[in-house]
Amino acid sequence: MFERLSKIFYGGDYNPDQWDESVWEEDIKLMKALRVNAVTLPVFSWARIQPSEEKYDFSWLDKVVDLLGRNSISIIMATPTAAQPAWMSKKYPEMLITDIQGRKHKHGRRVNFCPNNTDYRRLSGLITEKMAQRYKDLPNLIMWHICNEYGIYSYCYCENCARAFRIWLKNRYGSIEELNRRWNANFWGHTYYNWEEIEVPSYLTEIMPSWLGKKDMTAFQGMAIDYNRFMSDSYLDCFLNEVRVIKKHTPDIPVTTNFMGSHKPIDYFDWAKHIDVISWDNYPTNNLPVSKPAMRHDLMRGLKKGQPFFLMEQASNQVNWEPQNALKRPGVMRMLSYQAIAHGADSILFFQWRQTRGACEKYHSAIVPHAGHLNTRTGRELTKLGKELEGLGKKTVGSRINSKVAMMMDWPNWWAIEFSAGPNEDLLYLDQLEKYYRAFYDLNISVDIINPSYDLSGYDIVVAPVLYMVMKETASSVEKFVESGGIFITTFFSGMVDENDLVILGGYPGAFRKLLGLWVEEIDALYPDMTNKIVMKEKFPEMAKKEYECRLICDVVNTEGAKTLAVFGKDYYNGSPSLTENEFGKGKAVYIATEPEDDFMKDLIKHYCKEKAIHSFIRPQKGVEVTQRVKDDRTFTFILNYNSEEISVALPEGKYTNLLNGAVVSGEITIPSKEVFILEN
Ligand code: GLA
Ligand code: ZN
Repeated sequence: MFERLSKIFYGGDYNPDQWDESVWEEDIKLMKALRVNAVTLPVFSWARIQPSEEKYDFSWLDKVVDLLGRNSISIIMATPTAAQPAWMSKKYPEMLITDIQGRKHKHGRRVNFCPNNTDYRRLSGLITEKMAQRYKDLPNLIMWHICNEYGIYSYCYCENCARAFRIWLKNRYGSIEELNRRWNANFWGHTYYNWEEIEVPSYLTEIMPSWLGKKDMTAFQGMAIDYNRFMSDSYLDCFLNEVRVIKKHTPDIPVTTNFMGSHKPIDYFDWAKHIDVISWDNYPTNNLPVSKPAMRHDLMRGLKKGQPFFLMEQASNQVNWEPQNALKRPGVMRMLSYQAIAHGADSILFFQWRQTRGACEKYHSAIVPHAGHLNTRTGRELTKLGKELEGLGKKTVGSRINSKVAMMMDWPNWWAIEFSAGPNEDLLYLDQLEKYYRAFYDLNISVDIINPSYDLSGYDIVVAPVLYMVMKETASSVEKFVESGGIFITTFFSGMVDENDLVILGGYPGAFRKLLGLWVEEIDALYPDMTNKIVMKEKFPEMAKKEYECRLICDVVNTEGAKTLAVFGKDYYNGSPSLTENEFGKGKAVYIATEPEDDFMKDLIKHYCKEKAIHSFIRPQKGVEVTQRVKDDRTFTFILNYNSEEISVALPEGKYTNLLNGAVVSGEITIPSKEVFILEN
């Protein structure tokens, strides 16, 4: 792949400009002690590098770069364009963002630029050019890191964005008549006669704050979803504006920008096509199950169809932005680091190198704490990890995960579901994805998270929870997948609408009706304290219970060829199908007409995995995660024990080398609490 990405990179964001020069030598000394081999800089240093429009000052950065070079520390060179200097905001006030309330911001914070502002584009392009020219020949330059966490706070809703939105719409729809048709503009007299009449969907226009419980409601879904698409595209244009400059100078150095996992405002699948190496910032908090970061790692790996990614940021210990910023317990940082590698990461990087002295992140952990040395609990853990990663060398780098299961995930679908007024405001897309993901996760079965547009042919099972918005091509690719023997599992509120959130007429679930062999006559929403029952008709050995609980939504289903595997157990639709299976070609399409309890999911998944002979590597145990990465003819099996007790594991036939200590093991092994084994065979 990329020649310079030949080891696991260990280090993090380095902000030497926040410190006196006298500290830099000490930084290097500590980096060496920790085996740090890469740092990212200068992420937020635009103001320092460019004191005025005419003047650039790279002298300090040159010194740091030189120091790093002399000490063989690689550089992930960041363009500092996430925080424009104050003078720039003053000189070009149009550069500042206008929020959803219609308030034009003044200078402050970061990522507060209007993505469609031409001065921002010009000046961010210019500083990128200067940096690319200056640093293009550095032998230790391994990657470009553009800006920082695009879209972290808010979209922009300014007049300039409104103008750009109109152009974007013109390009997408061609004529105002077509736009009216696609948006169903006859509704509430929204018909437009001129592009100029179109406003952006803010609290001043179409969006009603918090009308859907915690969520905003829109009066006009077609427009709201398109605005998200447009904003995602606008930030992408900012990114590409810098990438173009960089590629002129260093066509072979990979380019990235740091993603935020499941970050709703930006369509990462769409962006992934333009990014060489996906990287992301992982901040799981103590009270979250480890399946959450696992799923996000799998999503990041899925963006580029299995290509390994970079863990660009994590916290060595506590963060500063939670209500209670709990410490990471002993061993947790190391476990989370290996979890990232287990799911496809080829780097372990932190925010940040030295804990800041002032401003809002001063109580956010860093590698070097305020105490100034590494003789601390976290410091010792970091030292051990650095040594271990160095020991792993390039063994696992570039290795891939072969999953037989895929889960579909789609940003416009997410936007559409959560803009939807009805059927149930508690329906949240990620909740549903997580539920299905966890069923596989608990069984130690690897899942690729893919876009509906991706090739399905390598999979045995494809799950598409609440795939509400379905493109024609998706419907036919899923049909092909099932015809040729695949198992497709989908749920209530799927196959309902086209890309503009217009209902596919003729009976739900429009796009999947034929495939699923059923139609949904009514969709019932349950009050939060209400449940129904899934009563099994078909006796699968894996289904441990006769009845399971369900909630949220219940579809009233009429089968049209599908077999009823379970029915509802209550209400006037008592006895109507809650779980169906339709044979289609050589495969099956399964419909779950409600939100089932977790046990149901797990049992059902067990059943279909067995049918497809998909097995976990070892017998699944609570609190134990297992993944496998493969390179050439070598397999690396990661077994992580998150429990507070040791576990014993029966390995399949064969001899394995534990890469973390060189021991050759086989048969029954014991894995201590909070320990990871990386077994090569
Ligand atoms: C994000 C940012 C960093 C820092 C961390 C704190 O990931 O990219 O600059 O603010 O959050 O958790
Ligand atoms: Zn704007």
